[in-house]
Amino acid sequence: MMRSILLLSLIGLGCGQAERAPESTEKREVNVYTHRHYDTDKDLFAAFTQKTGIAVNVVQAGDDELLARLEQEGATSPCDILITADAGRLGLAKSRGLLQSATSEVLLASIPAHLRDPDGQWFGLTMRARIVAYDKTKVKPDAITSWADLTGPQWKGKILVRASENVYNQSLLAAMIAHDGPFAARAWADGIVRNMARTPKGNDTDQLLALGEGLGTIAIVNSYYVGKLMASDEAEKQKAKAMIGVAFPTIGAHGVHVNVSGGGIAKHAPHKAEALALLEFLAGEEAQRLFAEGNKEYPVRPGIPMASELQAFGTFTPDSLNLEALARLNPDAVKVFDAADWR
Ligand SMILES: [Fe+2]
Repeated sequence: MMRSILLLSLIGLGCGQAERAPESTEKREVNVYTHRHYDTDKDLFAAFTQKTGIAVNVVQAGDDELLARLEQEGATSPCDILITADAGRLGLAKSRGLLQSATSEVLLASIPAHLRDPDGQWFGLTMRARIVAYDKTKVKPDAITSWADLTGPQWKGKILVRASENVYNQSLLAAMIAHDGPFAARAWADGIVRNMARTPKGNDTDQLLALGEGLGTIAIVNSYYVGKLMASDEAEKQKAKAMIGVAFPTIGAHGVHVNVSGGGIAKHAPHKAEALALLEFLAGEEAQRLFAEGNKEYPVRPGIPMASELQAFGTFTPDSLNLEALARLNPDAVKVFDAADWR
């Protein structure tokens, strides 16, 4: 029943022309290629199967590997949905022609417009902010309100941040370029390089641990890493956990840079109706609650509370820039980082 409704809605949207023979009605399944590797996601896929009877087959690998595999498989690819982190990556998959447009009233109503592709090729499913964690014994809560604040001489030798090859930093810089142009972005990158506590190394969690060890007083990280740190019982994390404060720097007057982890329907998806059903499920209330609590990500769906560990740090106004810009301006961001010698 549900399937026929979905198929009808697809035909209604004018994207029902399949190149292959009609699917077998015996086994309903959906093939997911995902970069995400969280227990939360496994639980969600199991819940989806229980609810719909549609089996979820998962291929888990790195971003580059998944994109290369999709490209190599071409029209014979079994992939129905690509799920990955960062709109920059999702946009890259779109620009390589690996995704297709698809949408539904449920997706449009569940996901704010700036967190999904204007052409319906990918949809943000969880939101994260790039934020500052600081040593609250050394930094005042109101010391950092915008990203530009970090370029002042008072922060010399104090900033911990990962390498510029990382897409999270590239997307932050791309958002700055979108709002204020490449020259302002270059001035910011130069300022951060001048103030770095060390040559960039490690991932976001490593920056938080370095903060705990006193190697710097400011760490630039994604919000969910702070949420996970605060929820952690691991001994090695307790020092950092005890001394962290959080600031939500804005890009000038444009709000706080946010990004998504999300999914899109693969160009040659053999099970498009099932893929759309899974995307709708992941944007639904049950899934959004689990993403928020289980993985400390911000729900994209309005009205779902954030994780308790993050509530303590307060709320912020997200930048409403359509995240499609992050992929489009990614090459410019990489150039600025190179020019600034941000390794
Ligand atoms: Fe991450």
